[in-house]
Amino acid sequence: MATTRTVTIINGDGIGPEVMAATVRVLEALKVPLDFEYKDAGTEVVAKYGTNLPHETVEAVLRSGIALKGPTGTVVGGGLPSANVGLRKRLDLYSSLRPVKSVPNVKTRYEGVDLVVVRENTESLYAGLEHIIVPGVVESLKIITEKASTRIARFAFEYARKHGRKKVTAVHKANIMKLSDGLFLDCCRKVGREFPDVTYEEVIIDNLAMQLVKDPTRFDVLVAENFYGDVLSDLCAGLVGGLGVVPGANIGERTAVFEAVHGTAPDIAGKGIANPTALMMSAVMMLDHLEMGEAARRMENAIFKVYGSGEVRTGDLGGKATTREFTDAIIAAL
Ligand code: NAI
Repeated sequence: MATTRTVTIINGDGIGPEVMAATVRVLEALKVPLDFEYKDAGTEVVAKYGTNLPHETVEAVLRSGIALKGPTGTVVGGGLPSANVGLRKRLDLYSSLRPVKSVPNVKTRYEGVDLVVVRENTESLYAGLEHIIVPGVVESLKIITEKASTRIARFAFEYARKHGRKKVTAVHKANIMKLSDGLFLDCCRKVGREFPDVTYEEVIIDNLAMQLVKDPTRFDVLVAENFYGDVLSDLCAGLVGGLGVVPGANIGERTAVFEAVHGTAPDIAGKGIANPTALMMSAVMMLDHLEMGEAARRMENAIFKVYGSGEVRTGDLGGKATTREFTDAIIAAL
């Protein structure tokens, strides 16, 4: 019998507990050998811990190596640093992974989209190095290192090989940022030479943006530094129906956090009408990561079957189903 793995569950804020409860119900129905250990993070637990990312939550993820996380709120301008950014830093989750796949019956401009955005998570313009030179002039530094670029390139190529994908596209603006993006490309090329079975190409970010909206089906794995990757991840999610249906993961050497990429949806929190698809799809990624591929396919097929029938869907996609009714349909389809 397979050994039982512990998964740290972080409900998060807003609709987080609702979509998490739905996802855990499906995982339980799958009867996979997983134990769930619940830990807190987010704005709603600040009063209790004095922080949005309690030490014991980080410790629990370090112990289990795997977390499933709901969205956590942040304050725009001021307030505590984001719990997401905190987790990424404390656990050195250097890679952000966003598979983007067309969902049956979710009407968009494109069919047959099946690509993955691999985003470097630790540097570039998000290193947070900004300062005022003189009043009215701000300098914001973009950091690109050989170490982080090589690590993310290797992650992208290894991911491609492991998942039977054929092509890695490095995203850049090295025609303008010759040194920083030039270094990023050098690292991708060097790693690419170790993977002769995977085609390698380079596309300038603005050209890529145009090509993605013209024909996203020609892309397979996109690898990008932090800032480009951030923008591309959401652009690509929009190609298949938005943040409500795409999963996400942040992965490091020793730990991986799987999470919905949408926010806390304060406007619908507590109403029982949130769409749990994104977190459920993240749980599918988690099962794959845990090498529980058979359970992952069953869960994914059940989700696609419910979408394929077109009968049960939540309000954000034009339906009337509650979170519970949608989840019941998935469990019935398993
Ligand atoms: P949001 O994603 O929470 O909401 C945008 C719109 O999408 C809203 O109308 C909401 O009702 C809808 N929506 C989002 N997820 C949905 C779901 N699963 N089912 C049905 N409808 C859904 O984005 P917003 O309003 O910009 O952010 C709210 C809070 O969430 C902020 O504090 C923000 O910082 C945080 N946030 C957290 C993230 C995370 O923890 N990964 C990611 C994005 C935002």
